[in-house]
Amino acid sequence: MTDLSALESELTAKIAAADAAALEALRIDALGKTGEISNLLKSLGAMSPDERREQGPKINGLRDIVATAIAARKAELDAAALDARLAAERVDLTLPAPPRRKGSVHPIMQVMDEMIAIFAEMGFAVAEGPDIEDDFHNFTGLNFPPKHPARETHDTFFLQEDERGERKVLRTHTSPIQIRVMQRANTAVEAPQFAHGQEPPIRIIGPGRTYRKDSDRTHTPMFHQMEGLVIDRAITLGHLKWTLDAFIRRFFETDQVVTRFRPHFFPFTEPSAEMDVQCDRSAGMVKIGEGSDWLEILGGGMVHPNILRTVGLDPDEWQGFAFGLGVDRLAVLKYGMPDLRDMFSADVRWLEHYGFSAFAHPNPATGLS
Ligand code: DAH
Repeated sequence: MTDLSALESELTAKIAAADAAALEALRIDALGKTGEISNLLKSLGAMSPDERREQGPKINGLRDIVATAIAARKAELDAAALDARLAAERVDLTLPAPPRRKGSVHPIMQVMDEMIAIFAEMGFAVAEGPDIEDDFHNFTGLNFPPKHPARETHDTFFLQEDERGERKVLRTHTSPIQIRVMQRANTAVEAPQFAHGQEPPIRIIGPGRTYRKDSDRTHTPMFHQMEGLVIDRAITLGHLKWTLDAFIRRFFETDQVVTRFRPHFFPFTEPSAEMDVQCDRSAGMVKIGEGSDWLEILGGGMVHPNILRTVGLDPDEWQGFAFGLGVDRLAVLKYGMPDLRDMFSADVRWLEHYGFSAFAHPNPATGLS
């Protein structure tokens, strides 16, 4: 005959000391289908009624005690496990937040913003034009004679002929914006959003992307220009020189910048000039405000009378000056990027190095953030 009280103390002691796995094993050994207590309960059937009356309550009592002990131990172990998990997974709110990846402003866009801010202060408004231009706005309207070699010097990207036999181009400069602004009798039916049709006096800048078949350290097939156009009465070359010199000093934040105007030819200006800034290129980098090298940064001149006639303005009444600035060149000069092509290679490491925070830095040109 099994000693029930010895079995009870043995099992309750083991249960009290068991971990989760041992507890389950104990449960199966005692209360499982062929467990020790289950077998005792089965043995009741073979007993005499008297024996059964005596043993029945004892064995059932033992089963209840063991089941209760197992349930209590299980609750204890579950509570301890939960406590351990809560302690381990506690969030330490004093820890700094993990860094977030931030986007940055591309140096070209930063420089465009700085340029726009400076010209806006001088009273220039921003005008735009389409990247895909027609021949008229890119060439003919700008006084490029048909079949003239000047068209070829632009290394133009031509699009396929359309159904009217017209070949559109990727604009080779931002000068077509001039025509769109001055054209009051609007021929720009296909791009009405760019038809400005202003009456003079006109004072605009036209920032934008431009395209030429060219690629080396200082040329990329896509680059950026900012056009400038002033049309008024009694405008002279002196106004052009002053405007550009004032702009350059503000842009480079120094009066040390030395500029020079070289006579040049453009079909749409007469006289025409290119402006260079003095710089030092000896150390593989371009430094402004020192050295004895020159870097060309813009073309400009007095608006050719033919252009005025083309847009229906009387050259005896109106004159003006125009200029086209190389935005990428200015960015390279101000922020020292050795190779222009890196600007458009979309390398995130380059952007993280040369990019600007959209929020933290004030605009150097205006002091405003
Ligand atoms: N469009 C010229 C170029 O890309 C630059 C230029 C020269 C623009 C003279 C002008 C200008 O407005 O007057 O080479």
